[in-house]
Amino acid sequence: MDSSWGQRVEIVLISDGPLPVDSPARKLPFFFAARLVDMVSLSPRTVVDAKIAVVELQDATDAGLTALKAAWDHLASVPVICLVDRKSRRETIQAAALGSSQLCDRDAPLILLLKRINALVNEDLCAALPEDAPAQTVEAYRKSNAFLQSLCLSAVEGSPIQMNLLNASAEELLEALSLHGLSPWLEAVHTHHSGTYSHSLMVAGVAGMFAMHLGWPEEECKEVIAGGLVHDIGKMRIPLSILDKPDKLTEEERKIINKHPVFGRDILKPRLEVSVAIKKIAIQHHEYLDGSGYPLGLDGSRISAQVRLMTICDIFSALTEIRAYKDGVPARVAFGIMKKMGPKLDQAMLSSFMDMVLKRDLGDVKRTPLHASGGAAA
Ligand SMILES: [Fe+2]
Ligand SMILES: [Fe+2]
Repeated sequence: MDSSWGQRVEIVLISDGPLPVDSPARKLPFFFAARLVDMVSLSPRTVVDAKIAVVELQDATDAGLTALKAAWDHLASVPVICLVDRKSRRETIQAAALGSSQLCDRDAPLILLLKRINALVNEDLCAALPEDAPAQTVEAYRKSNAFLQSLCLSAVEGSPIQMNLLNASAEELLEALSLHGLSPWLEAVHTHHSGTYSHSLMVAGVAGMFAMHLGWPEEECKEVIAGGLVHDIGKMRIPLSILDKPDKLTEEERKIINKHPVFGRDILKPRLEVSVAIKKIAIQHHEYLDGSGYPLGLDGSRISAQVRLMTICDIFSALTEIRAYKDGVPARVAFGIMKKMGPKLDQAMLSSFMDMVLKRDLGDVKRTPLHASGGAAA
């Protein structure tokens, strides 16, 4: 079960025709909920829900620029970043003629554009959290979001994954979960501005809480939290038109989505800084114990306890999450569905999971001793 990357539009990408192949704007939908709007059909309606507009001026025609100017008043209520080639006199003059906007060099490193947008969009990321959110939860939320963004950048650019930030996020989240339970974390995750990261954040929290419930050692608890944050990294390579599709997927589209664990393997394979356990979680979290999962059809004897745990937490999160095109199902309904999956899932582990969520109430699972010994499942 998978999440959708991006639900609510935050950025409108404005281009005269399709985005040029070398435009950094093509990568923004991986980081933010974004929608492409054709320059010539700009109207107040097409930008009304945007927090920010990014205008690609490359290949803009006179007709496009005229439409852009006409719509500028409506755009002016949101920050506008114009992507230009600073060496191009024509583009810089066009940008200047538009009036107030920030210019960003098309060839500048992607991270600079992301930082610029973050400063405009995400400055209130933690401000949206409930007032009584515990300090540890807020800090874990801040760090985990920073990590997820850096992870996406690594996947796009093939650069090293920031393990220090990943470890710090896992440590902070484990601390928050052990002190305050899962509820504040889920409340924080639900305030997220888009669905882009919320699934990974939820899976990380649920997995950490469950590992604690099973009495796993602290290091393993941190490892499954880290694995939860990373597990769907392969979706970075799935076209957004498929990943964000609100309607039922065709068989062909489903096949493409089901490639994300293989893409995850491809992204993580050269990354020696990432542990084997985390790589396995990313590659195997859709495997089922009866061999009917994907991509490899592994049977239970080859699926580790960490991966089994992740599969349960992933499915539970996907079923209970609210998406753009569906409501989440209540926890009890989710369990009914998972119970019916029978030999696909580790049933002993699933019973423990139900015990944690139902008998003790999802959010009230408080402090399970971090250092208790214990095996995989009850
Ligand atoms: Fe997932
Ligand atoms: Fe997945």
